[in-house]
Amino acid sequence: MESFVNEVNFFEGNNPEDIVAQYGTPVYVYNERILRKRIRNVAGVVKKFPYKANFSMKANSNLTILKIVLEEGLNADAMSIGEVRLLELAGFPADRIFFVPNNVSDEELKYAIDKKIIVSLDSISQLERFGRLAPGSRCAVRINPGIGAGHSDSVVTAGKNTKFAVEEKDIPELLETAKKHNLKIVGINQHIGSLFMSPDPYLAAVTNLLRIAHKFEDLEFIDFGGGFGTPYHKLSGEQEFDINLLTEGIEKLLGDFIKETGKEILFKSEPGRYVVADCSVLLGRVYATKENYDKKYAGTDIGQNVLVRPTLYGSWHDVEILRNGKPVLPSSGTEVVSVTGNICESGDIIAKERELPIIKEGDLVCVLDAGAYGYSMCSPYNSRPRPAEVMICEDGSVRCIRRAETFEDLIRMF
Ligand code: LLP
Repeated sequence: MESFVNEVNFFEGNNPEDIVAQYGTPVYVYNERILRKRIRNVAGVVKKFPYKANFSMKANSNLTILKIVLEEGLNADAMSIGEVRLLELAGFPADRIFFVPNNVSDEELKYAIDKKIIVSLDSISQLERFGRLAPGSRCAVRINPGIGAGHSDSVVTAGKNTKFAVEEKDIPELLETAKKHNLKIVGINQHIGSLFMSPDPYLAAVTNLLRIAHKFEDLEFIDFGGGFGTPYHKLSGEQEFDINLLTEGIEKLLGDFIKETGKEILFKSEPGRYVVADCSVLLGRVYATKENYDKKYAGTDIGQNVLVRPTLYGSWHDVEILRNGKPVLPSSGTEVVSVTGNICESGDIIAKERELPIIKEGDLVCVLDAGAYGYSMCSPYNSRPRPAEVMICEDGSVRCIRRAETFEDLIRMF
């Protein structure tokens, strides 16, 4: 496809130049219609058995998005008490929040315990700490199913090279620890990693976790984690993650498990990226073009502080060029150019040596699939305030869902 924003009518008739005239650049722009569609897709991953999808809000913690997720009926998981409190603010009741932390203090655990939010402990030492604080209570444990997957080593969260979860051989000691504190392990969860485009590793990990589940007597739920991919190379024809294939595979495994155990268990998943990635684009302005030692650069205001994924993981994001609010199509001519930001680092590159339509100063750069781990990983590095987030609502109106930070916001803590 030549243009994603044209193909899906991303701006719903709005001129992106009007949006940036009002909110400035860079700016994250969300499309509510696409967001709701993605939410409904994950809500329907398992149809034949009791199932609930938790939105993994680390991918996007905007309050308006959390409210939409709640309204659409998903639950949510949180990694920190900050995330738990945001979910509470969005209106999530305690029984729709799953706290899945890593290496937390008594203070964080106590907050969840007091609110009766189910916590998943991801080491024996954390279970011990939890047991001392809340003997006799209910909890979950995070298991490493021995299978990991993801787009980069940094985001593989199971298998042999990760700090996360408890490996199978330690389950007897885990159970002993639970018994010592009279804890009831009502759930087990896993998360193999982030971004796989084939359901195979996930299904392999589901198979393993279901086998491991036999070792736990009081299970009320099993959470298989997230990681469902979304195509970051749409413009060159990459296809969607096949949810139907996942459904088919998972329902077969769950059916066998239920037949074998006769247990009524709630199955859960924990997708973040799949829900929010492609409902957002990031718009920035081209302020300079140049050639350095025969290489072309287009300099924009989308620094690595605004979208860190390309710098941090070498991640690919498709880029479109907008002129007078309309996509410049590759068929009008292309050249190889690096699109960079305005941060004092040589790695501050959004798209490296990419074949793109010929860019002119004043164009808008439109970075696709920016909704997951985009704003949520922003920083004010180089003392650049974080940008605004706006949403194109289902009725086509544009609404500010987070104002841009100001210099005053930056100095408030001094
Ligand atoms: N559950 C747990 C316990 C997780 O650790 C994660 C992600 C998820 C669910 C959601 O995974 P997802 O469906 O979004 O793949 N910053 C990286 C991704 C880090 C993911 C960390 N954990 C990136 O920008 O690619």
